[in-house]
Amino acid sequence: MQIEVVETPPAGVEADLLVVGVLDPVELTGAAAELDALVGGKLAHLVEDGELTGKRGSVTVLHTLDELAAHRVVAAGLGAADEFDADALRTAAAAVGRRAGGIGGKTVAWVLDGQSGGAAADQARAVVDGLAIGPYDSGLWKTEDERRAQVERLVLCGPGAAGLDDEARRAAVIAEWTNRCRDLVNAPGNELTPARLAERAEEIAGRFPSIACEVMGPDEILAAGMGAMSAVGQGSVNTPRLVTLVYEPAGAVSSELVLGLVGKAITFDAGGLSLKPAGRMDEMKSDMGGGGAVLGALGAIAELELPVRIVAVVASCENMPSGQAYRPGDILKAASGRTIEVTNTDAEGRLVLADALWHARRRGATHVLDLATLTGGIVVALGDYYAGLFGNDQEWLEQIQAAGEASGDHMWSMPLGPTYKRYLRSAFADLKNSSDVRQATAAVAAEFLHEFAGEGPWAHLDIAGTAFLERGRGDYYDSKGATGFGVRLIAELARRLSA
Ligand code: BES
Ligand code: MN
Ligand code: ZN
Repeated sequence: MQIEVVETPPAGVEADLLVVGVLDPVELTGAAAELDALVGGKLAHLVEDGELTGKRGSVTVLHTLDELAAHRVVAAGLGAADEFDADALRTAAAAVGRRAGGIGGKTVAWVLDGQSGGAAADQARAVVDGLAIGPYDSGLWKTEDERRAQVERLVLCGPGAAGLDDEARRAAVIAEWTNRCRDLVNAPGNELTPARLAERAEEIAGRFPSIACEVMGPDEILAAGMGAMSAVGQGSVNTPRLVTLVYEPAGAVSSELVLGLVGKAITFDAGGLSLKPAGRMDEMKSDMGGGGAVLGALGAIAELELPVRIVAVVASCENMPSGQAYRPGDILKAASGRTIEVTNTDAEGRLVLADALWHARRRGATHVLDLATLTGGIVVALGDYYAGLFGNDQEWLEQIQAAGEASGDHMWSMPLGPTYKRYLRSAFADLKNSSDVRQATAAVAAEFLHEFAGEGPWAHLDIAGTAFLERGRGDYYDSKGATGFGVRLIAELARRLSA
């Protein structure tokens, strides 16, 4: 999406749609009042008749003739003033973006007049997010239906728009990478194998001289002593890949801080010999959502040339049952030297991450963030809006949480600590990979990772509920499928670390 900021008064802005946000109940003030005067009070009539409401996500289209340079004026409902936030604006923009696609709206002009509240820069970002993320169409594999048209150009105008070019363009770049991540996460297991995912990583690295990419195959993973990851991958003909991407920007602000990003990338999680039930197993193609977010974010960060050093690790396997598959009862040796008794082959994510976290530390990561669709427990606890945030360092957790709030990727803080370790005691090895008690499964999984997180700040985001939606959320994510959760968060975190 192309971005422009103009100083032209809204009435003179040429666009297919000229959009103004309205709160519920509607009061035509500010830019809305000025536009209403120019169109002879027609907006006020629509309010009187009950057609124009400020209901969140409502879209009212009014055709103009010669009164304005734009062909149509659109009132976008923002919802109640006391519930207004950036997500309300994202939802309003998403509704406009979807409608625009159906009525030939390629250029959308949005009036920012500061009426609805919130910082101008946050508003610009939210409008970009909504217009770019909202109309995303997951039907990439449909041969007949036409894909939803996308908004091609956004013109920000009005008194609140001045100077927001850079902010809006950055948001557009990040939103595009968010949608690329969604394509990856929606891709089915037969298409997106670990080898193919590694190729995608190499393609991204190939676009930016600042990124170096190394790919380890099954033999190298085993030879590096990564017995945990190796075991998860051994059951499938689609063999594992450990991808390491090193981002070295030209003018890194600090050479001491190396951001470590670790993504779980199970391209399909059948559960292995501890086979999952058939219902919804198809959705386990999204079990590489953490790795997808890391790849998307790195693309955005490299495109924006953010000056922070990064070591990213994408650990990819297919978790399948077969004659070669790892078994319940197997005892594995992780790269850190610790031994793990496998009590459930469906708790594969933590095994893969145990070796990937260790690898990130060995490659120099000082501040680590891992993202993983790790447990069903987090879906039960938090649903599809908040990811679960765990970690060992309060300051690091606060930085991540703040970046999440600002970016639209929301998270809720969850507990960690020695009380969860007792669930993982094994009679035979240093620890087992799954508890036989159905309690606090997300925290137990996080505590397992804690054992392998090494020295220094580490945070874990369980994104099992937020990376892939079983159904639309009723906001700017309105349909089933991948959200790209994590791309905006990581990009914002990298920006804050380099500021
Ligand atoms: N990939 C799943 C977690 C998951 C569940 C992601 C639902 C998205 C939606 C993970 O590998 C898994 O199977 N977790 C098990 C662990 C259990 C066997 C200890 C779980 O949470 O049920
Ligand atoms: Mn599993
Ligand atoms: Zn999994």
